[in-house]
Amino acid sequence: MLNRFLLVLLLAVISAQAQAKETATDNYKAYCMQCHGMAGNGKGVNIRDMSVMPRDHTDAKAMSGRSDETLFKVIKEGGPSIEKSVLMPPWDGVFSDEEIKDLVQHLRMLCKCKFGT
Ligand code: HEC
Repeated sequence: MLNRFLLVLLLAVISAQAQAKETATDNYKAYCMQCHGMAGNGKGVNIRDMSVMPRDHTDAKAMSGRSDETLFKVIKEGGPSIEKSVLMPPWDGVFSDEEIKDLVQHLRMLCKCKFGT
């Protein structure tokens, strides 16, 4: 009986985690892709009209120069918070801190990089 309970609990935890990942991917597709591109390479449909090009999130060299804290900050507070263009919008109020953290992890997946590597 107890084992069965643990199994159910475990499955719930696993599916919640799978969901978190999916949410970050979905959020990226819904909110970031039009500028940062389908593959996160900075070539979204908006860029024709933009004076500053969105970051190529697959650029491991550039992205590894940013700590997770900085990425969190720029997503939450927008470009100017890290002295970047206002064309990078702030997402505070759209995403919870938890969702922003998941987006940072999603960016790490796109660049296949960590800070300082
Ligand atoms: C309206 C277009 C637009 C949208 C939508 C947008 N961005 Fe950006 N983003 C930019 C631009 C432009 C820059 C580059 C700013 C600069 O270099 O001054 C940028 C820069 C960034 C950076 C900083 C990279 C660096 O180290 O320089 C991160 C991180 C980022 N965006 C994440 C996101 C995420 C996550 C989303 C979706 C929630 C998103 N962006 C949505 C336009 C956009």
